[in-house]
Amino acid sequence: MEPNLPLQNKIALITGSGRGIGKAIALKLAGQGVDIVVNYSRNQKPAEETAEAIRGLGRKALVVQANVGKLDEIDRLFEAIETEFGGLDILVSNAATGFNRPALQQKASGWDYTQEVNARALLFEAQKAVPLMEKKGGGVIISITSGGSQRVLPDYIAVGASKAALEALTRYLAVELAEHHIVVNAVSPGLVETDALKHFSFMAETDVIPRTVANTPAGRLVTPEDVANVVAFLCSPSATMIRGQVIVVDGGFSLPVPK
Ligand SMILES: NC(=O)c1ccc[n+]([C@@H]2O[C@H](COP(=O)([O-])OP(=O)(O)OC[C@H]3O[C@@H](n4cnc5c(N)ncnc54)[C@H](OP(=O)(O)O)[C@@H]3O)[C@@H](O)[C@H]2O)c1
Repeated sequence: MEPNLPLQNKIALITGSGRGIGKAIALKLAGQGVDIVVNYSRNQKPAEETAEAIRGLGRKALVVQANVGKLDEIDRLFEAIETEFGGLDILVSNAATGFNRPALQQKASGWDYTQEVNARALLFEAQKAVPLMEKKGGGVIISITSGGSQRVLPDYIAVGASKAALEALTRYLAVELAEHHIVVNAVSPGLVETDALKHFSFMAETDVIPRTVANTPAGRLVTPEDVANVVAFLCSPSATMIRGQVIVVDGGFSLPVPK
């Protein structure tokens, strides 16, 4: 007999789930009995490897290449989901990019692309997700934001602004989609060692990781699995009265502790 898991036989799309935090979320949900749509933009091999790992857990995996910064590619992604599964229960808007420069070196093209991938995508993914979730009687949408939406980080101006917009979108969607029985929240991880960190010049120049650990009350860095655990909880019926919130998963790093 199959275990009685609250997410058993649900269907989830995790954008950007070939690598990093998105991959951990995909594997966590698959371990809870969820079939997964693995989305990637440029790197097919890790996406296929994530899909194989999901199948190894006994769940279905559909791999769809789509750049979520492009509206026609979001349309194609959701068409593929409708064709394969006919509905959707969970959307995790995780994919992100960044034009990492100081304010005075930012360019309009980098700004626009960062906002399109990191913030605008959630709105238009949600528009496509609602009819598929209505077929299932409701659903859950989770965006993955970052502390740079509020704190000022080096070279992070474009991403920080996109994450602030993402958090505002999360609150609006939580209210406007409630009548569709859709629960919407955001998860905000602290520093997690993924490929994303390679794109920040300050990572090479300073002792960011030991300093982060030293300033984290929990005494270690956040792992992708820590983030995935909280996402899985927010997907569960136990979390249904949490709406429009940004849940911080940073081991206490951002608490205003006098230093
Ligand atoms: N790492 C951290 O310290 C940290 C902290 C706070 C918040 N976050 C947030 O956590 C999320 C995941 O970050 P991560 O560190 O796991 O990043 P990552 O390791 O760099 O992985 C990024 C993922 O997003 C995908 N992606 C990038 N642009 C895309 C696009 N235009 N369309 C579709 N997919 C796209 C990538 O696909 P390809 O493989 O095809 O390139 C990859 O799967 C992001 O929202 C990030 O802002 C990360």
